[in-house]
Amino acid sequence: MQQIQITRAQALKTHPAEDKLGFGTIFTDHMFLMDHNAGQGWANPRIVPFGPISMLPSTSVLHYAQAVFEGLKAYRTANGSVQLFRPRDNMARLNKSCGLLCIPPIDEAFALNALRELVKLEKAWVPGADGTSLYIRPAIIAMDQYIGVKAADSYLFFIILSPVGAYYKEGLNPVKIWVSEDRVRAVRGGVGEAKTAGNYAASLLAGKRAAEAGYTQVLWLDGVERKFVEEVGSMNIFFVIDNKLVTPALQGSILPGITRDSVIRLAHHWGIPVEERKVSIDELFEADAQGKLQECFGTGTAAVVSPVGELKFQDKIMKITNGQIGEMTMKFYNALTDIQYGRSPDPFGWIEPVE
Ligand code: COI
Repeated sequence: MQQIQITRAQALKTHPAEDKLGFGTIFTDHMFLMDHNAGQGWANPRIVPFGPISMLPSTSVLHYAQAVFEGLKAYRTANGSVQLFRPRDNMARLNKSCGLLCIPPIDEAFALNALRELVKLEKAWVPGADGTSLYIRPAIIAMDQYIGVKAADSYLFFIILSPVGAYYKEGLNPVKIWVSEDRVRAVRGGVGEAKTAGNYAASLLAGKRAAEAGYTQVLWLDGVERKFVEEVGSMNIFFVIDNKLVTPALQGSILPGITRDSVIRLAHHWGIPVEERKVSIDELFEADAQGKLQECFGTGTAAVVSPVGELKFQDKIMKITNGQIGEMTMKFYNALTDIQYGRSPDPFGWIEPVE
């Protein structure tokens, strides 16, 4: 295994107040970098002070978005130790995204080791207040100096760290979601199932319209029939219909969320019926009219388990669980965060301590 060179920051930053973290604006003292060049493969792994990376305007990622990323978290437990949640699954998904974007794969074990070394060095940055964590953002970007369209030969892999609180300003209060009628996020056969930059850029216009209408997020319908629910921009979506947990099946256009998978496995563990299938927007309004739509929530690393209190589609508005947090939503939130923060045992083998 290649040796990771470590250059320590000369001056360390002041840590922010843990009750004012928000999401994604504060970064720690160090970052991990590694380069890829044709012929040499991935090389020069290093931890260096957090700072600018230099690139020319001709750098290919700036033009064609050949970029993939991940999101995972390190949690501080009550006894002060730090642990990661399902990091191997993030590394595996990063490689799947690489495959779809023609990016050379990383050595997952090496990348995980690098991530651990970085988190170990930055351990003091893992906040301990309730609902806070250290968000970890690994990413790979194309670095060729070339503006023709082709898969690059050179890449930069970086990992940066950010202490975070809740993703949504609502915290654990239900968010309001706007169903996009005209814009679509992805189609099967495209890159919807990859965690790649362009998917998020493509979501911005609908996100702006949702915000203008007073909604927090966009719920996407399928790109062909514009009928079936897919996902929310930053989370997968679940419904409780007639006491069953229902979520759109992964069919190539939806991100295979690790929190999504964790919720499904918890439901199986508890004997709650789970249906991964097509869910049409009409079915949701009908279920609501019949009093069968009991709850709705989103899942994601950043979003955790976020209750949804309202859905707007065309001129119809559906209030869910009277705008309150549903019982099953709360049960999933508690079970998942209890495992993540080490408050309860982990029967699934999801937790990996950072020494
Ligand atoms: C995550 O949940 O980790 C995400 O990547 C979603 C979003 C912040 C882009």
